[in-house]
Amino acid sequence: MQGSTKRFLDAIIFDLDGVLTDTAEYHFQAWKRLADEEGIPFTREDNEHLRGVSRRESLLLLLKGRTLTEDQMVEWMDRKNGYYREMIHNVSSADLLPGAIPLLNEIRSAGLKIAIASASRNAQDVMNGLGIMDYVDALIDGNQIARAKPAPDLFVEAAHALDIPPGRCAVVEDALAGIEAANAAGMLAIALGPEERFGGAANLVVPDLSSLHLSNITHAATWRVVEDHFDPERQRTYESMLTQGNGYLGTRATFEERNPGDQQATMVHGLWDDAPIVFTELVNSPDWTDLAITVNGQRFSMQAAGISDYVRALDLRTGVLFRRLRWQPKESDIVLDLYFSRLPSLADPHAMAVNVRVDCVRGSADLNITTSLNAHIDNTGLLHLHVIEQVSDAEIAFVLVETRTSQKRLAMAMHTTTSDHETVISENDCPGCPGQRIRAHLNQGEALTVDKIVTVYTSRDTDQPLQAARSSVRQVAAEGSTILLANTSAWEEFWRDADVIIEGDDESQLAIRHAVYQLRIAASSTDEYVSIAAKTLSGFGYRGHAFWDTDIFILPFFIFTQPRIARNMLMYRWHTFEGARRNAQQQGFRGARFAWESAETGDEVTPPWVADPKDPHKLIRIWPGDIELHITADVAYAIWQYWQVTSDDEFMRDYGVPMILETAVYWADRAEPEGDHYSIRDVIGPDEYHDHVDNNVYTNWLVRWHLLKALELRDWLYQQDSEKAKALDKQLGLDEEAFAQWVDIADRLVILQDPQIALFEQFEGFFKRKEVNWPDYENRTKSMQLILGIEGANEHQVLKQPDVIILLCLFRDQFDPQTWQSNWDYYILRTDHSYGSSLGPAIHAWAAAEMGLLDAAYEHFLRAARTDLMDIRGNTAEGVHGASMGGLWQAVVFGFAGLRVKDGTYSTSPRLPAPWKRLTFHFYLRGERQTVDLHQEPVPSTTSNNTAGSTR
Ligand code: G6P
Ligand code: MG
Repeated sequence: MQGSTKRFLDAIIFDLDGVLTDTAEYHFQAWKRLADEEGIPFTREDNEHLRGVSRRESLLLLLKGRTLTEDQMVEWMDRKNGYYREMIHNVSSADLLPGAIPLLNEIRSAGLKIAIASASRNAQDVMNGLGIMDYVDALIDGNQIARAKPAPDLFVEAAHALDIPPGRCAVVEDALAGIEAANAAGMLAIALGPEERFGGAANLVVPDLSSLHLSNITHAATWRVVEDHFDPERQRTYESMLTQGNGYLGTRATFEERNPGDQQATMVHGLWDDAPIVFTELVNSPDWTDLAITVNGQRFSMQAAGISDYVRALDLRTGVLFRRLRWQPKESDIVLDLYFSRLPSLADPHAMAVNVRVDCVRGSADLNITTSLNAHIDNTGLLHLHVIEQVSDAEIAFVLVETRTSQKRLAMAMHTTTSDHETVISENDCPGCPGQRIRAHLNQGEALTVDKIVTVYTSRDTDQPLQAARSSVRQVAAEGSTILLANTSAWEEFWRDADVIIEGDDESQLAIRHAVYQLRIAASSTDEYVSIAAKTLSGFGYRGHAFWDTDIFILPFFIFTQPRIARNMLMYRWHTFEGARRNAQQQGFRGARFAWESAETGDEVTPPWVADPKDPHKLIRIWPGDIELHITADVAYAIWQYWQVTSDDEFMRDYGVPMILETAVYWADRAEPEGDHYSIRDVIGPDEYHDHVDNNVYTNWLVRWHLLKALELRDWLYQQDSEKAKALDKQLGLDEEAFAQWVDIADRLVILQDPQIALFEQFEGFFKRKEVNWPDYENRTKSMQLILGIEGANEHQVLKQPDVIILLCLFRDQFDPQTWQSNWDYYILRTDHSYGSSLGPAIHAWAAAEMGLLDAAYEHFLRAARTDLMDIRGNTAEGVHGASMGGLWQAVVFGFAGLRVKDGTYSTSPRLPAPWKRLTFHFYLRGERQTVDLHQEPVPSTTSNNTAGSTR
């Protein structure tokens, strides 16, 4: 099996002193000798602060406030340098620190470039002495650089010399100043030394070089999603991919200063408003990131000339989005370094922070910065909000808006402060975007930092959203860096439970972390009235509506790692159950039917008509809202799975069983008696290339399961609480006759399967449809439905996504190997893997892993992993693919690890893709935290508690 060859780093930049050689010790000895001569106390501890900093800065630190004339300074520095040079005179390869040569060799043979970036003016001599110049592609030292660390210049220069973008470089450093410089450059920061020295600033800390391997460095890169160069054509893709959030809101990664053609969006859960065609949609909320910079009259934007060293990175570990670039405004001698970072806090979901720093590297600049809460926004052209009230003064601004039809209110407040430099701040009460205006004059070497704190509340949170936003914004601002610290520890806590560690395959590792991050920010930790939309809160696609994507694809991740959130998401189905009742009623059936697309009320909100992608003047009838019925059983399945894993009896008793029973009533009414059997006709199964089909196996199998589970659960409820069971019977009109009918339907519902070879027929007549000659379409760039047309696809045996195969996965232990094999063989060849549904690849990966087809499993897995990170389907711009992300987690945990839960115990049957050396994850089983740690070597299956062996 070929492992993924995708890598996220192209160069490793090494600091020299204290990293490759212990000349850091010589620097100390030299300073110490000087200090002793001058009678200045100087200890090893004092020396810690001198690590990595320039000669002059070192002297100033050593002087601790004592003053010298410039001539004395020069003389002292020269003297120290003399002592230092005496010591390095004899430097040889014997002075290389242990591990240096093996690591350099490893990097070289992996084809990555190597640079040395040292503040020392003696670096070249030391390198010559060490005899390792042949290993390096570039050496940048203190002679070539004006600004010392923690300025990023040394490392950025090294990246230039290597011709590698900063975002694809890692730095290995022993000094805090160096780690800060690496961070400032937007590079991966690898620290050598004690943890305490770096205060959490590094991406990875190891004690010394001998414990560092290239694989540690590249694995550390899997916490960052990096945009290493600015490509205007791909902005909308990155906006989705780098979406930030906290489960209360999601914000696309548009730039603070905006960019032509971008699609700014902040989606707040539950903020619905009516919309034509799609009934209702999540409303785009005011842009809290808004901040514009003008320098000597020139407005900064990514379109401006003179931009270099661009890098943007989303740190999945902390949820912070960082951007760095250098700007040289045209026809000026000004050089500025701009840094932007922002975060919505996971600890306080109502709080966000934006931090912008402008460093004047050269020239002098008149800065004019405006920050605002920008309510001039729309939902792809549709205006939902009007401003009720706005205020701004020199510190605080707020805006209160209301949705046009649903009359929900949202308030945002912001607080702006500046530091590092004198500024004049004034109000900027522009209509619809209140905020502040900041003026400052920066000379060379000066910097300005702007901190913007924003809070947001809606009328769903409180009757007084404006008051809540205003009072909290002052508080959050007064607490200063608390917002950062609390956010970091909230994420830490989350990752302790939710991280999935894959060693040996960085692409898979990054993909699963990105998926887990995106899933987490899509889910409210407290709100039972919202769910997760197909595109999460990351874009306008599907308008914030929830599909079966949530219950079948996304929910398992939460059930196993964040059961409390999973419960909320199922409670959403309960709180919208009235809508489900109306959906059944509207089609003349009893019971309740979940909407194919669900929003605020649970009523069906699938648009019945949409514009034809081939001809926008034509409309196409969209049928899932009418006949894609399986979602009703899918939700029952999700409830059951939640209960199996959590044993939350209270939920099952009060909400789960009532929902499962009332939806069973719907199925009993919907199933059509036909002589000696029952049919369910005129439906759409998971494979939506075929509509108006009869007896879809997936649907019928789930209906049968649903009815039998309903009976089982009704008995369980009766034992738990007979009064409640009886009341429910009465309410739903259930009696022995009804239960007998459920059994009868379950017994005699058509399941189309060839008894000889165990092949299911996806629906009646599927096998009679035309075959596609696949070789004709090998190099296509669009879906088979677009190529063949809706009718054409319908007439062929071509699947948009797994239908029978997902059924096999969901009920995996009920099928024998022959059933797996025949159905896999048949359907896998007839599926539109590349441009059909994004829901497919992860499920195919799971199924293939289940069958031990590891090459195929890995191929499908990578296709799922690349859905958003490489935008291989070309539609990430509309938002990330939530179901694919949830499916990715299932492919890892259910597929490759083979995790199964049964009767309160679990088992694994690992079958890891060849490149994976190790797979580790955690989950909760009945409230107890479990750890699964699997290695590539054939190890015996692990089993919890006292159950024997694995289930397979
Ligand atoms: C490196 C060392 C520092 C030293 C600096 C300048 O960064 O870690 O301790 O002060 O280089 O070195 P130089 O040899 O030019 O004085
Ligand atoms: Mg150093």
